[in-house]
Amino acid sequence: MSRLILGQTLSFTADPFAVPHDEAVRHERRGAVLVEDGRIAAVGPADALRAAHPQAQVTDHGDGLILAGFVDSHVHYPQTAMIASWGKRLIDWLNDYTFPEEMRFADPDYAAEIAGRYLDIVLANGTTTVCSYCTIHPESVDALFGAAERRGMRIAAGKTCMDRNAPDGLRDSPALAYDQSKALLEKWHGKGRAGYVITPRFSPTSTPGQLEALGALWAENPGCLMQTHLSEQTDEIDWVRGLYPEARDYLDTYERFGLLGERALYGHAIWLEAREIARLAETGAALIHCPTSNTFIGSGLFPTRQHAVAGQPVGLATDTGGGSSFSMLRTMAAAYEVGQLSGTPLHPAQLLWLATAGSARAMHLQDRIGNLEAGKEADMVVLDLASTPAIRQRVDEAETIWEALFPTIMMGDDRAVAAVYLEGAPAPRGAG
Ligand code: GUN
Ligand code: ZN
Repeated sequence: MSRLILGQTLSFTADPFAVPHDEAVRHERRGAVLVEDGRIAAVGPADALRAAHPQAQVTDHGDGLILAGFVDSHVHYPQTAMIASWGKRLIDWLNDYTFPEEMRFADPDYAAEIAGRYLDIVLANGTTTVCSYCTIHPESVDALFGAAERRGMRIAAGKTCMDRNAPDGLRDSPALAYDQSKALLEKWHGKGRAGYVITPRFSPTSTPGQLEALGALWAENPGCLMQTHLSEQTDEIDWVRGLYPEARDYLDTYERFGLLGERALYGHAIWLEAREIARLAETGAALIHCPTSNTFIGSGLFPTRQHAVAGQPVGLATDTGGGSSFSMLRTMAAAYEVGQLSGTPLHPAQLLWLATAGSARAMHLQDRIGNLEAGKEADMVVLDLASTPAIRQRVDEAETIWEALFPTIMMGDDRAVAAVYLEGAPAPRGAG
């Protein structure tokens, strides 16, 4: 059966960092999305699509703005219950808040409870796909993939591997990291809408032996993504230098063990050196901008525009719970603010691109999700552009779609999320 979803529609026809934004976007004031078998079959003017498909079931969102669902390309779902923990910088924040919370995921019931809670929160915020770290415990990976499967969400995730500089109970070994990651990969990768991500946490919590083992696993499974952290804080970089004295720089601690490639995603990547930038450009690896985290933990200003204009894949992410929000609207707002602090304000088209198509490209899912266009999976969010009195009074006299949308990007939250669709069906809540 086909379904017509009516509202304003906004699609990308090109990358707004590569061409002027008006050439990169198609907006229909009165548009429609035709969904067939969970995929977008057409996007166009509502009148024409209604006339051509008189049998389709119609859902009319009025002035609601239909977009591709948000794609959050770097999160730690196990940090859901300790988001907004006060007053620490990265290393102390990990030791004092994060590791104690991650220990609790040895209990599969707790892992299942948080996985369901987390996915319900992000769906309520219009996010339809995430790329998540789990914990060291294989049960934490099963919990997230299971919860996503029950909701019908496309998801990418992996077991977070650590074999040093972490407390007892949160360390594996090179062999365990390899064996457990391999078993989880074989269980979940390509099952339904799931993708497995090989996940060394970061160089300080892995021995060279563990990075080597995970590099070997990636070489054996080149279709998987690999995610880790890179150059988030200056103290961290000094620590890495001490732990890997033979490495040329932080990126080299990954590169020398086979953990650099096109399917790599590096979270933060703020303090890069010239050689690192050049190698990342050569390989086409993705850099993931986590602006609320970078301000909350006090890490620094990621130069989004510089990388995106150079053609480096850039994703946008909440980095829950180092980030201070589950909302990609709030995350776009923070990306705008960070851009302003760097003298390079991002246009709303660029912010939206990063939160949808940019993150999808970073995750090598650009053929499936991240844009409202025929052939893509019908994961969508519908935004109410007048969701609060404060926003409504601001957009009352808006003349362009950007004037109408930008206040919701800057001031909106889950109240702006009027509807969420997964493969063309309303997203379930509380699916366990
Ligand atoms: N670096 C290593 N682990 C983490 C983490 O959990 N969050 C953040 N923000 N940075 C990290
Ligand atoms: Zn992270």
